[in-house]
Amino acid sequence: MFKVKVLNQAVLEEVLEMPMVIEAIEQVYTLKEQNQTALFPMVFHEFNPGVADMDIKSGHLKGADIFGLKLVSWFGENKDKNLPLLIGTTMIFDSKTGAPQAILNADHITGMRTGAAGAIGAKYLAKKDSKTMLMVGTGHIAQFEIAATLIAVPSIEKVLIHDPMSVERSKDYAGSIKEKLLKNFNVDKEVTFEAVENFEQAVGVSDVIITATPSRQAMIQKDWVKPGTHLSCVGADMEGKQEIDEKLFADAIVVVDDIGQAVNVGETETAFKAGIISEDKIYSEIGAVILGDKKGRTSDEDITIFDSTGIALQDLMTSKIALELADKKGLGTVIDL
Ligand SMILES: NC(=O)c1ccc[n+]([C@@H]2O[C@H](COP(=O)([O-])OP(=O)(O)OC[C@H]3O[C@@H](n4cnc5c(N)ncnc54)[C@H](O)[C@@H]3O)[C@@H](O)[C@H]2O)c1
Repeated sequence: MFKVKVLNQAVLEEVLEMPMVIEAIEQVYTLKEQNQTALFPMVFHEFNPGVADMDIKSGHLKGADIFGLKLVSWFGENKDKNLPLLIGTTMIFDSKTGAPQAILNADHITGMRTGAAGAIGAKYLAKKDSKTMLMVGTGHIAQFEIAATLIAVPSIEKVLIHDPMSVERSKDYAGSIKEKLLKNFNVDKEVTFEAVENFEQAVGVSDVIITATPSRQAMIQKDWVKPGTHLSCVGADMEGKQEIDEKLFADAIVVVDDIGQAVNVGETETAFKAGIISEDKIYSEIGAVILGDKKGRTSDEDITIFDSTGIALQDLMTSKIALELADKKGLGTVIDL
């Protein structure tokens, strides 16, 4: 009855390139600002608390004529079953007819859109000529953040790498990331990669800091951060997660992807609950800065924060462009639903 395209991980890795995803995510933010989108309430269910849960994030991209959802399940015991702990699936539908259009593996799309999001924060809010970037976290998301930021902020010359759990992992990562960036993203820049020995010092010399860890307490203290620094906080995507000192929110220019999500589940949550920032003190959502309706940074002394909580609209738009590219290349499998 319905011809539905199925795109697996391999097809998505083949068709999606970071520059086009950055452009797509910027478009999502601007459509959101222009009221061309809707986010639906999130669903979260614990099958067995701390052992197995799932969430569904969904929304409508009116400007792109699609709606849809991403379902992510987390099953901790999968590690004994040789299966990934996190499994994500995206479904998109035509918003003119309600007909299903596609089912996609969500893993690579999540990496690409999350990397693009952190980088867009840096592109619009960091100082011009930012030279040093600090990546906090060396997990799955980190390489997407580094690739996207090197593309979106071409003035970066040095990337400092910090794994809060292990200096050895920081060193291994710093030694291998150049090759991964070339192989996975075709990014080949004259950039040096250095493992961090002293975290406080590394924070103090960085122009752009991107955090992508599941930390539940501040790792970066306010008095370590020099004037002019930009921080894109990516790791905090559910209640209780926190990566940077909530006191930073008192004076920084705080820009978010979605105000509701930021105060409930984002990096802003802790500062919000502590009364350090209120919704009306959040400078704006990022779409307003991209559109030029809001200035963003006002001087080289401002500290800027982009709270990138991650919204379903990013997955939907990235899925849409992946579908178009796969169609052009004759990739993917069509099923009759
Ligand atoms: N905002 C978004 O759109 C979005 C999208 C995807 C993932 N995330 C979040 O980003 C974070 C990182 O995801 P990932 O897939 O790279 O994870 P991962 O498990 O692959 O890597 C996590 C990294 O953080 C470090 N780490 C682990 N526990 C820590 C702790 N308690 N304190 C400090 N560091 C710790 C690890 O050593 C590793 O370097 C997670 O919180 C994830 O939920 C956010």
